Amino acid sequence: MSENRFNFSETGNRLSAACGIVELMEDLGRAMSGSDGGTMRMLGGGNPAAIPEVQSVFRQRIAEIAANSAECDRMLLNYDGPAGSPAFREIVAESFGKKFNWQITADNIAITAGSQAAFFQLFALFGGTANGRPRQILLPIAPEYIGYADQGLSPGLFSAHVPKIELRGDHDFKYHVDFERLAELHDIGAIAISRPTNPSGNVLSNEELARLRQVAQRLGVPLIIDNAYGLPFPGAIFTDAGLPRWDEDLILVFSLSKVGLPGVRTAIVVAHPEVVQRVSAMTAVIGLANNNIGQAIVGPLLAGGELFELARDVIQPFYAQRSAHARNAVGEAFGSRFPYRMHVNEGAFFLWLWFPELAIGSRELYRRLKERNVLIVPGDYFFYGLAPETEWRHRHQCIRITFSQSESVVAEGLKIMADELALIHNC
Ligand SMILES: Cc1ncc(COP(=O)(O)O)c(C=O)c1O
Repeated sequence: MSENRFNFSETGNRLSAACGIVELMEDLGRAMSGSDGGTMRMLGGGNPAAIPEVQSVFRQRIAEIAANSAECDRMLLNYDGPAGSPAFREIVAESFGKKFNWQITADNIAITAGSQAAFFQLFALFGGTANGRPRQILLPIAPEYIGYADQGLSPGLFSAHVPKIELRGDHDFKYHVDFERLAELHDIGAIAISRPTNPSGNVLSNEELARLRQVAQRLGVPLIIDNAYGLPFPGAIFTDAGLPRWDEDLILVFSLSKVGLPGVRTAIVVAHPEVVQRVSAMTAVIGLANNNIGQAIVGPLLAGGELFELARDVIQPFYAQRSAHARNAVGEAFGSRFPYRMHVNEGAFFLWLWFPELAIGSRELYRRLKERNVLIVPGDYFFYGLAPETEWRHRHQCIRITFSQSESVVAEGLKIMADELALIHNC
C-alpha cells in the first residue's frame, strides 16, 4: 500500500489497510480477468461456476425485461426504498414463508447490496460499544469466512474459538463447536456462523445449531446465519442438515451471488422488523438504495418457485459432482507422498486441506505455488479473532482450494501442488 501522503482516521485505516488480504484479492482478480496471461490455475476465490442451464435462465430473464419497456424503465429509472422493492420483499416473504413454513411478512425482509454489505451493517449494529461496554461478535468456530475479518468499525470485534477436531480415517477430519469454550463468555453482541462454512465446507449439525441458539438465548443476543452457499439457493450442501425454524432471535442472510449473480450485488436479510428497519436505514445512509437489477431478474423466478427448483435440480447436483471429483483428484495426486487431511466436504465450493507437518506455513506455500502458476488461498487469514495467546499450529497448516473452476484446472493444480508439497516434506 502506498505511503503516508494523507493522514487517515483510525477507522479509515482499519477498514482500508488490510494489506495481506487485499494483495490476495488482487491476485485472484488478475487470474479471473485473464490479465496475467490466462496461465494461472485458479484454485482461489469464491466465484460461482458457470453452469450453462442456470446462465441461460438469467439471460432469458434479462431479455424479457429488456423487451418490456415499462418494466425495463422502472428498473433502471427508480431508486427503490432502502429496504428493497416492496413487491420483491412481498415475494420473498411469501415464497420463503411457504417453503419453510415460517411466519414472516415483508416487514421481516431487508434487501442489501450483497451479503458482504449485510454483514458489515449487522456487525456494526450488534458489535462495538453499547452502554459503555465493548461487545464482540462471537464466532463459535475458527476458521470462519475471511470477508468478515476486517469489517470491524472498532478494534477486536471478533471473539473466535478453537473447535474440537475429530479425525476420521487416514485422511479426513471434521470441526465441531467446543461448547465448553463458549460457557463463560460475556459482552457478546451477536453470534455469527456461515453454514456451510467458508472455508472448511463444514455444516454445523442441527443439534449444534440448537445448542448455539441456547447460547444466544443465554447471552440475550441474536444468532446470525450466513447461508451464502446453503439453502434454499444455491443449495451447495451435501448433508441433510436443513434450515432452522426462523424466529425473532434469528437473523438469516441469503445471497444471490452463489447462484450465479455476484455482479448484481443483492442479498436478503430475514429478521425481526426492528433489525430490518435498522439495516434499511443504514443502507440509506451508506448508499441510498440497493441495486434493482437482481431483484428484477429473480422476482418472478422466486414467485413461481423456479429458483428453488433450479437450485435443487441443477445447482446442487453440479457442485456435489464437482466436490466428489475434487476429492478424488486430491487422493490421486497426493497418494501417500506426505501427510495430509481434508475436512469432510459437507457444502460450499471448497476443499479445506490440512498438512499437519507443513513447517513453512501456508502463506509461504501460497507464494511458492503462485510461482508455479497455481493460486490457492492460504488458511491463516481465516483464523482471525482468536485470543492473542492462542498457540495453535493448525492455523498455519491449512489451505483452501475451490472446486467451482473446471475439473481439468482443479486436477492440474492439485498435481503441481502435490509435487511442491513432496519437495517441501522431503527437504
Ligand atoms: C460465506 C460468505 N458469506 C458472504 C459472502 C459475500 O458474498 P456477497 O456479498 O457476494 O453476497 C461470501 C462471498 O464469498 C461468502 O463466502
